[in-house]
Amino acid sequence: MAPDASSPATELRVEADIESAWRTAADAIADAVAAGVSAAGTAAVAVSGGSTPRGLHRLLAEPPWVDAIPWGRLHVFWADERLVPYDDPASNYGAARLDWLDRLARAPAGVHPVPAGLPPETAADRYAHELRSHFRGRGATEPILDLAVLGIGSDGHTASLFPGHPALDEGERWTAAVQGGDPDVWRVTLTYPVLNRARRVLFLAVGDAKAEVVRRVLCDAAPALPAQRVRPAAGAVTWVLDRAAARLLEDKTACG
Ligand code: 6PG
Repeated sequence: MAPDASSPATELRVEADIESAWRTAADAIADAVAAGVSAAGTAAVAVSGGSTPRGLHRLLAEPPWVDAIPWGRLHVFWADERLVPYDDPASNYGAARLDWLDRLARAPAGVHPVPAGLPPETAADRYAHELRSHFRGRGATEPILDLAVLGIGSDGHTASLFPGHPALDEGERWTAAVQGGDPDVWRVTLTYPVLNRARRVLFLAVGDAKAEVVRRVLCDAAPALPAQRVRPAAGAVTWVLDRAAARLLEDKTACG
């Protein structure tokens, strides 16, 4: 069974190894930014945390991507953030600065981290305000990201949308404060109202440990897992995997 045909256009890219997957993801980011800038003069991309994207973020500060991406037209947001100090090793923003943002000669037009040092609900509200201000400044009432780069946990979570959490049922607010994950801390996450308005969503998953959850998300029919509910109405979904994470997909292009 191919990836759910009723879902948005789902593209599967299986690369030989993690470095190739990072390069493919970096190309996709450059393409999405170029498309956004071409259409509207600026682009907005939300990135994720965790270990998988760190090599991708390092590539963005290196040729050819560092020269190809119009940094002065790009606004960077986070799909989720752990509510820890930015210099804490668990901070997604802190890691992105170390791996990528602080290495750029040209700063992005906007870097919009989730505010730290606030009570969770306040941080979520402030981040929603930051999103609203940005998109309102572009004359938009909806938070239409050009690209959301997402990871996936072995339990099927994405961003900080964890199985069974009430945030999965948030249909209006653009952000939510949740507690959980690894590390088990308070977090702020984008909600489906934002993720499912993105023009493109890129899931990046590598390693043998992700093979089963990748198979479940792509092949199990019912949208039981949080990552399965990322179905941008007018957007495309690209999965970038290495061979190890695609191990349980038949002939690497379908679900068997
Ligand atoms: C987070 C991430 C989270 C991550 C997955 C996969 O802040 O924890 O955004 O959603 O993408 O947990 O994490 P790994 O890449 O470390 O496996």
